[in-house]
Formats: sequence, structure tokens, C-alpha cells
Amino acid sequence: MEIDEFLALVKKRRSVRKFKPDPIPDEYVEKILEAGRWAMSGANGQPWEFVVIKDQKTKDKLGDAVFEETKLAAAIELSRVKEMRQPWMRGIPEVIPASVWTEAPVVILLCADPRTAQASVLSRVFDDRWIIPENMAHTAQIIHLAAAACGLGSQWVTVTRVAEEILKPVVGIPPILRVLSLVPLGYPAYKSEPGYRRDLQDIVHFEKYDMSKSRSNEDVQEFIRSLRGHSRVQYPIYKQQ
Ligand SMILES: Cc1cc2nc3c(=O)[nH]c(=O)nc-3n(C[C@H](O)[C@H](O)[C@H](O)COP(=O)(O)O)c2cc1C
Repeated sequence: MEIDEFLALVKKRRSVRKFKPDPIPDEYVEKILEAGRWAMSGANGQPWEFVVIKDQKTKDKLGDAVFEETKLAAAIELSRVKEMRQPWMRGIPEVIPASVWTEAPVVILLCADPRTAQASVLSRVFDDRWIIPENMAHTAQIIHLAAAACGLGSQWVTVTRVAEEILKPVVGIPPILRVLSLVPLGYPAYKSEPGYRRDLQDIVHFEKYDMSKSRSNEDVQEFIRSLRGHSRVQYPIYKQQ
């Protein structure tokens, strides 16, 4: 693959937040997870294990677990000034949005084994937070890119401690393992707009950090406000203030 092809794939991948229920080929799922297996990891510890879920009842239970964290997030978002809120909480919700990704035909649970942190002595210095989320982010990124290469949509669904404790028994995940994210996979139910990223010239420095590009606290807050205009409103059920 040439670099331009790779760049095109990177830009093509977008977070998809509504899926068609149409099934996807098992071969795609296998290749996507095969790609994830080849992610880099500290000292090659490979903490990842994947649980593939197709059963609708199980997906609904996972959706309920994540909904518990959504309710907490909603309460916190509502305490922020309106323009700093994520778009789905810009108005006062009539109904807190439930997890719509459960409509996707396949959901992958990204599990991590914290014991693999022992692969590197650095984990003893920086502890599990170093080895687990960073390693898992690598396999997740490859999985999302591989999904895009298959013409599928995917979404990073954060699994907080709140949701994790509820959903682990649903699929019988051993207590020692962590679940850091869910990845719904399916054909997108809408056409994505091009993504938004900061300009390359604003984030790259040569030889020394260029202080003319340094941002103040206000600049960063303004940037976060401006981001809100670029995000797709995920859930339509809310009332404008
Ligand atoms: C650590 C992390 C957590 C994320 N959590 C969520 C999430 O819980 N729900 C969601 O819809 N998107 C989530 N995302 C996706 C980001 O919102 C998305 O990547 C970002 O807005 C850029 O949009 P793009 O993926 O379409 O390029 C997460 C992404 C990352 C890397």
C-alpha cells in the first residue's frame, strides 16, 4: 500500500453513530480482529482479548450498561455552560439518549488483561495506567482503521468503571480483565461529512518548540467551543433551550 492510499484510509475513517442492522460478513470481523492482534504493545505484552457479540438481547444489555454512564455524563454536561457542552447535550433533553449503537449487527468488546503489564519493568514505575490504556488504544485504532478498509462504520464507545462492572457479568468476563471500550461494527446509516482536525502547520514544530504556536488557556477553551460545531449530533431527541 502506498502512503497516499494509507492517508486516504485514515481520512475515510470516521466515527459512525448510527448503523444499518444489515449483517456484515464474518470474514470482515475476522480480518478486523486479525489486524487488531498485530498492534504494537509495550514489551509485546499484548493485553487484548476480543468478545464478538451478535445476539440482540446481549447487545441490549450492554446498551443498558452504557446508558448508566450516559446518564452520569448527561448530568455533568448539563452543569457546564451551554456552548461548552457536547452537541447531544446542547439543549435540555426530554429523554436522555439511550445507546443507539446496539442496532449495529456486531459489537466487539475490547478487553485487557492487566497482568500483562509485568512484561515490562516500566509498568512498575508507571503502573497499569501506562500499559493498559495505551496498549489498548493501539489495538483499537487498528480495528477502527480495518473496519474503514472493509467499508464499514465503527464507533469508539467508552466503557467507564460504572458500565464495566455492569456489563462484565453479562458476558461472563473474568473479574481480573478490564473492558475499556466497545466497538459497534456495521454499515453506516448515513453519509459522513469530512472530518475536522487542527492544521498540520499549527501542531508541528521543527527542531525547537515554536512559541508563536503556543496556545493560552483561553485559546484552548475557544478551540473546544469551536469543536462543537464540527461534531455530528448523535441523538435527535432533545429540545433546544
Ligand atoms: C479515547 C476515546 C474515547 C471516545 N469515546 C467516545 C464515546 O464514548 N462515544 C462516541 O460516540 N465517540 C467516542 N470517541 C470518538 C471521538 O468522539 C471521535 O474520534 C472524534 O470526535 C473525532 O471524530 P472522528 O472519529 O469521526 O474523526 C472516542 C474517541 C477516543 C479516542
